[in-house]
Amino acid sequence: MTYVVTENCIRCKFMDCVEVCPVDCFYEGENMLVIHPDECIDCGVCEPECPAEAIHPDTDDEAEKFLEVNAKYAEAWPNITRKGEQPADAEDWNGKENKFEEHFSEKPAAQD
Ligand code: SF4
Ligand code: F3S
Repeated sequence: MTYVVTENCIRCKFMDCVEVCPVDCFYEGENMLVIHPDECIDCGVCEPECPAEAIHPDTDDEAEKFLEVNAKYAEAWPNITRKGEQPADAEDWNGKENKFEEHFSEKPAAQD
């Protein structure tokens, strides 16, 4: 089992989740984060921290769809351990539909 970042993270990217993860298993794309399924220890502490309610255990239906996305991009994107600056319009994207189809970016986060 693992926890999974799902669609509503896209373009919200609040990053409160990374501050609480005891094993630093979040990875950063241009406009969302993912969890490395082999590194997550299933502690669950990140789930209630996300203002977008985007983190779910992989036993949830929605998370199942995103497990592959998390596994794939955790291998491609850089690790993130500190909360950065969230997008200026993050709140506007909270709850929007079809974000994966229309806004998902395969690009890694820009490195400082
Ligand atoms: Fe990290 Fe725990 Fe969340 Fe897994 S469930 S990503 S270990 S905080
Ligand atoms: Fe995304 Fe929620 Fe973390 S919006 S970056 S999963 S706090």
